Amino acid sequence: MPSNNWHPDLPPKMLTFEDLLPRVRACLQANDTGVFIKPSPTQYPHQWNWDSAAIALGLSHYDLPRAWHEVRGLLSAQWADGMVPHIIYHHGESAYFPPPSFWQTSGLAHGGPIESSGWTQEPLITPVVRALVEKGNPPADLPIIFQQLLRWQRWLHTARDADGSGLTCLFHPWETSDNSPRWMHVFDRITPVNLPPYKRRDMQHVDPAERPRAEDYERYIYLIDLARRNKWDNAWMMKHMPFCVQDVFFCSITHRADEDLRWLAARLNQPLEEIDGWISRTRRVFSERFWDEGRGLFLDWDVRLNAWLPVNTMAVFTPLYAGLATQQQAERLIREHWLNPQEYAPGPDSEWLLPTAAKNERDYSPRRYWCGPIWVIVNWLMHQGLLRYGYHDLAESLRMQTLALIERHGFREYYDPRDGSPLGAKDFAWSAALGLDFASQRR
Ligand code: GLC
Repeated sequence: MPSNNWHPDLPPKMLTFEDLLPRVRACLQANDTGVFIKPSPTQYPHQWNWDSAAIALGLSHYDLPRAWHEVRGLLSAQWADGMVPHIIYHHGESAYFPPPSFWQTSGLAHGGPIESSGWTQEPLITPVVRALVEKGNPPADLPIIFQQLLRWQRWLHTARDADGSGLTCLFHPWETSDNSPRWMHVFDRITPVNLPPYKRRDMQHVDPAERPRAEDYERYIYLIDLARRNKWDNAWMMKHMPFCVQDVFFCSITHRADEDLRWLAARLNQPLEEIDGWISRTRRVFSERFWDEGRGLFLDWDVRLNAWLPVNTMAVFTPLYAGLATQQQAERLIREHWLNPQEYAPGPDSEWLLPTAAKNERDYSPRRYWCGPIWVIVNWLMHQGLLRYGYHDLAESLRMQTLALIERHGFREYYDPRDGSPLGAKDFAWSAALGLDFASQRR
């Protein structure tokens, strides 16, 4: 397989682990509240679910006890029904919008012990817990952590199962890569009515051109309002939320989490049948639900329309991370899309990998949040997927590019695929943490 994604102008010496370590430590320390590490100092001052997973992985390279502390902080917010929420307000309100009170999740019988949002996010923490255990010295409370993960993944496969497939349904883009063009496609047919009063605060620290458009943000608020008026009842939401999708990206990470949960269960001598059931069911239904043989892409599913969302974004590659593609499907994804300069590969209109939406998509926008910019976490997931399917040259090229972006522009939230220029929030924790993980992996 060609390694044609190598950037011609890369510095001859790549950042090493030793170069990065002091910078990563400083960034994570500056974001550390003692209880959890903030995704970024000003833009995201609370605990975010999958950010904590990435952060724990970075920490594990130099401070394993602190990594476990991050895991416990996240799981301490688990709801009575098993959900682990997407934002956790350990320290109450801040300048961030929405504040905890906006969600109206306090006092719910199925809710949690700490103020939180009402949605969840990708269960990336399970693969990270496995990685931490593999480093040795597992903590005495590992069986408790395992039970918490088991309850959450059971919730993902049951409370959010619309059709017996066990594929999780999402009710809000904030549960996944949120401002993605594929969700705008759903938003085209949602009209917000009776919006509650609110004031956005996400554009105080970041250029509005790099943040969601006003019309999309209105829909975010409208969906929160619908859910809170219905007491965050999953059965109600399953029937009535106008946004109800099965996301290739989310379902792939969940499947990887199931595999890693099984690994933990076997190690702890726990029963395997239930987890095996989720794993085999997903393997059975995944391609049937998501694979479009005509286009050679995995496409998200709109549960309300019973139809694919015909939008080509980085999500199409994530089954590689989970081992859910056949070798032939992988070959088509790489040859027809990854290496295609109209879509993802460098060409006259972009130099860097990986744009988060295909460059020829209607809503591709190289500076706007999730509509095109490069994210370190996406590159990290892709790197693992490429390795899993034997694309070693492409994986190495992606790893080097990501380190080169970090070397040039620091730990930013995202980067412009045209020239690599830095975008979004600064001192971004997972870019630091996963940058360190990249630097720790030599070919
Ligand atoms: C943004 C991202 C989301 C992330 C959060 C905190 O909302 O879209 O994925 O978890 O920021 O970094």
